[in-house]
Amino acid sequence: MICSPSFLSCDFSKLESEIKSISKAKWLHFDVMDGKFVPNTTYDFHMLKLIKQISDQYFDCHLMIEEPEKIYEKYILAGANLLTFHYEATKQPIALMKAIKAKKTKVGISIKPNTDISVLDTLLPDLDLILIMSVEPGKGGQKFLLNSLDKIKYLSEKRKEHNYNYLIEVDGGINFETAKLVKEAGCDVIVVGSFIFNSDSRNDLIMELENV
Ligand code: DX5
Ligand code: ZN
Repeated sequence: MICSPSFLSCDFSKLESEIKSISKAKWLHFDVMDGKFVPNTTYDFHMLKLIKQISDQYFDCHLMIEEPEKIYEKYILAGANLLTFHYEATKQPIALMKAIKAKKTKVGISIKPNTDISVLDTLLPDLDLILIMSVEPGKGGQKFLLNSLDKIKYLSEKRKEHNYNYLIEVDGGINFETAKLVKEAGCDVIVVGSFIFNSDSRNDLIMELENV
């Protein structure tokens, strides 16, 4: 699997060294919260631009914001490699998916723990990635929700059946134990926040998580 560290729980007073401490990761998970779609607020595309200057990792951008269609272009201009928005946050998921693809950027859609996976059925052929939330979006350090495993299996079977190309990513509550579970279910990319940032040997941990 690919491990995409979420630096939401890093020490922002020493951002540069925190990003360096996860330099073995090929991907970087960038969590954007607007205080509306989720209660908390984080950073936006200005921060993305800054971090792009100190990292050449693949920017896996997770937009937890209302009406992402109003602002998605700023994230593409700031250097997002993959832009994932929430199905629940927009009335026009198909149009937005097409608009992001038209800008030669990979596109993902995420669903919250209580959203039925079948809402994505008609979108699956055109998606580059589906992000299954295994915690309620909004903050790090929560407990993994087991119902996400059935969603991963569902996506993995659909992909096999129809020869689809999307990656399956899981976000929230990942540690060694849950990483094994999601891998068995068919996951390709794990987002890992607090488990990595609570460790002193982060790069080693990233390698171990990729090979559970
Ligand atoms: C939660 C975020 C996650 C979060 C993961 O809303 O999308 O990316 O930072 O953190 P952990 O791994 O601590 O659950
Ligand atoms: Zn995330």
